[in-house]
Amino acid sequence: MVGSRMFSCRTDANLVAVLFALLAPVSLLAGDSGSRGASVPAPKLGHVVGEEALEPWNVTVFPDGTGLPSGGGSVDDGATLYDARCASCHGAKGEGALADRLVGGWGTLQEVSPVRTVGSFWPYATTLFDYVRRSMPYEAPKSLTSDEVYAITAYVLFLNEIVAEDAVMDATTLPRIEMPNRDGFVSDYP
Ligand code: HEC
Repeated sequence: MVGSRMFSCRTDANLVAVLFALLAPVSLLAGDSGSRGASVPAPKLGHVVGEEALEPWNVTVFPDGTGLPSGGGSVDDGATLYDARCASCHGAKGEGALADRLVGGWGTLQEVSPVRTVGSFWPYATTLFDYVRRSMPYEAPKSLTSDEVYAITAYVLFLNEIVAEDAVMDATTLPRIEMPNRDGFVSDYP
């Protein structure tokens, strides 16, 4: 045991010596050309990105609705879109299938096995818009227009009995919705 440990120490020392011998001339060379300056190309640090180029990435919607786009959509339109784009994974009425359940679970959060859905758990309706716009449908994120996301948001809220059948969601109406679990979160910051 001791012998092999010593052997490995010696090997390491040899390795370091060889590496040093190999690298020393390279670093000397680099230092040499660095001091002359002219032959060293300027670092490629990119270029300034304008507001327009940033726009497609700037999609955050805050709880108070800041960042919501113009446009709007109804529960009715949302039902058709949901059937076509969401139901295969989340169930015909949001009851869950391959992917998460989106509807129901009301009043279960204090139980041993809480059912956390958009309706029972999510504190802000605006988050539903943000989430769907940036990440759903799962296989084709960002393929929905703002109007379509508003409509689907309206429909999922309707399925959760949070808005009426004739509701229209837009940048004014969506932030006004009081989600059932709005005050159910405890802040870590006093
Ligand atoms: C191909 C399957 C698929 C389709 C279609 C799909 N989703 Fe999803 N969805 C998922 C998966 C998988 C997750 C979980 C993602 C994760 O946790 O990272 C998810 C998560 C979600 C969540 C978050 C659920 C939660 O409580 O955490 C919402 C809301 C949602 N999807 C809405 C939609 C809507 C609205 C559509 C239609 C526009 C849609 N999804 C289409 C697969 C799908």
